[in-house]
Amino acid sequence: MSLDNPSRITITAALPYTNGPIHIGHLAGVYVPADIYARYQRLQGKDVAFICGSDEHGVAIPMKAKKEGVSPKEIIDRYHGIIKQSFEDFGISFDNYSRTSAEIHHRTASEFFKKLHRQGDFIEEVTEQLYDEEAEQFLADRFVVGTCPVCGHPEAYGDQCENCGSSLNATDLIHPKSTLTGATPTLRSTKHWFLPLDQYQDFLKEWILEGHKNDWKPNVYGQCKSWIDDGLKPRAVTRDLDWGIPVPVEGAEGKVLYVWFDAPIGYISSTKEWAERKGMHWEPYWKDQNTKLLHFIGKDNIVFHCIIFPSMLKAHGDYVLPENVPANEFLNLEGNKLSTSKNWAVWLHEYLQEFPDMQDVLRYTLTANAPETKDNDFTWRDFQARNNNELVAIFGNFINRVTVLTHKYYNGEVPPLGNLTKVDEQALGELRGFPKKLSDSLERYRFREASQELLNVARLGNKYLADEEPWKVIKTDEDRTKTIMYIALQIASALAVLSEPFLPFTSKKLKNILAVTSSGVETSWAEVAKKPMLLPSGHQINKSELLFRKIEDEEIEAQLAKLEATKKLNAAEMETTAPTMEPQKETITYEDFAKMDMRIGTILEAEKMPKTDKLMVLKVDTGLDVRTIVSGIAQSFTPEEIVGKQVTVLVNLAPRKLRGVESQGMILMTENTEGKLVFMNPDEAGASNGAEIN
Ligand code: 2FM
Ligand code: ZN
Repeated sequence: MSLDNPSRITITAALPYTNGPIHIGHLAGVYVPADIYARYQRLQGKDVAFICGSDEHGVAIPMKAKKEGVSPKEIIDRYHGIIKQSFEDFGISFDNYSRTSAEIHHRTASEFFKKLHRQGDFIEEVTEQLYDEEAEQFLADRFVVGTCPVCGHPEAYGDQCENCGSSLNATDLIHPKSTLTGATPTLRSTKHWFLPLDQYQDFLKEWILEGHKNDWKPNVYGQCKSWIDDGLKPRAVTRDLDWGIPVPVEGAEGKVLYVWFDAPIGYISSTKEWAERKGMHWEPYWKDQNTKLLHFIGKDNIVFHCIIFPSMLKAHGDYVLPENVPANEFLNLEGNKLSTSKNWAVWLHEYLQEFPDMQDVLRYTLTANAPETKDNDFTWRDFQARNNNELVAIFGNFINRVTVLTHKYYNGEVPPLGNLTKVDEQALGELRGFPKKLSDSLERYRFREASQELLNVARLGNKYLADEEPWKVIKTDEDRTKTIMYIALQIASALAVLSEPFLPFTSKKLKNILAVTSSGVETSWAEVAKKPMLLPSGHQINKSELLFRKIEDEEIEAQLAKLEATKKLNAAEMETTAPTMEPQKETITYEDFAKMDMRIGTILEAEKMPKTDKLMVLKVDTGLDVRTIVSGIAQSFTPEEIVGKQVTVLVNLAPRKLRGVESQGMILMTENTEGKLVFMNPDEAGASNGAEIN
């Protein structure tokens, strides 16, 4: 089912973690598209609640605090402030920006948990969890690293392997290690509350796989499908931790809600906070069947917003489910993954210091090159080109010509309209078509496409002026010139209206130049489509000013030099910090070793697994048989370069399903000095397939 004409739209944008400032990746993936959508819907006259806030729980916060020797509260206060400011600076028009440390959120999340608990929706289970004797605490999520049991990646976290994307339990890790003390954890019993996701399998299948096959983005639908096809398991929603929302039931002392249980409820508490401030009711924004709920997120958050949170909402019983979850892929920077720890990023607060008042240029660049269907690269050269060749040369140039000529010929007064020629009719007809074109793209979350349509409005204006040449016609036909300028001014005013969701600062500036902000001139989206004559004859416009400025090569070179310096610093750090040798693992007996059956095999076929970045599906001749092995190597090799390669295979590893494909073994790998994966390659040995390693 899809709501074509909802009475209200609740738009949520992922709550950012407050353990660092935000960068262009956050903006491109989540906040700019969400903001464009919210602004666009407001212009359609829709009742919009655009909701966000800081995600202040989870293991990352106390970890960061510990590293800096300060309290977690100090960390969240610092970054909540910086992040909130960045959003304001970039015109992200949240109706409310809250935080999960707020009292209203603690209350809302506790109540939510209690209701599910009362209804008997949780399973309570005592299980063995990893425990750090030295730090005297349980280890979960990011507090523990170890080898991924699925792909062999040596640095998988307790909740997820970032190499193959598998969702893990800390106890699944091979050779786990505490990130607090480096100690090898022991096992201790502890009680936790689990949401039995397996019981929601049928509901999710029907709602997503059958109900949203055609309207959810393929990347989102595909991830959901593979989760559901793999079979869902109960998921712990509590943790042994002293930072978070205390589990509000008896017998849960010292335990808190899992951050991914409380964070999405943060959308609800932020809506409550907003409604209270406005003296309104919050419930319709979450419970009325005529409300369209949308979650804007990055791809790493898909499972939480499409599987877990909807199951929580369903269990609660009285909430609407998201109508769509238009998740984006990731943005890279100059060919490398954005990384906070490696300082490989363009931080928003730094950008604004270096390019003051140029928020819209970044918004535009990130939209025109948004990672909508695949990961994309931000480069400073592209940023410069988009600014100079599109915003300056097309948009800015058109507006400048129109406003300068209007002042030159008519002292800034909109001239009267004479008879329309065919060319005029055509230009106006085309102009009238733009609101629908933009709507069609935006309603389908195609923000890149929409940004290019917007630029086409300015292109139309430029073409119209270039064809009609008012600067020549003025010498022979003053009346005709008036009509030309009248029409060009209408295109300019339409641009002021239609650009608002994308370039809010520019739109405001342009509306000021055209003097439409307080003059009672109608500037609505619908009006452009109906009859794009927004500026009446005789209307006085203000002085012309430049909307965009050219970006010089030196400015770009300075940014590139800054990144180069970061690269050098990172490399130097890697050299000075002696290679981090993994300490020797616990001693094992010969019998332990002998249990592992490792054979020489040859890769016969290799194929990248669709819709994943890292996984490759291999057919390997092990000498015993030809079997399928899923391996997390797609970012290090192309299929072509590994077919025919001899490798070492652990053949008696228990089979495991990965994205619906059963993997029957593991290829042994190591990392070279540059961190690239390399095979434990026996090519030189001249061994044949099936030869045992011992
Ligand atoms: O990935 C993240 O940055 C999370 N803090 C997003 C949370 S979204 C929501 F559920 F709150
Ligand atoms: Zn893995």
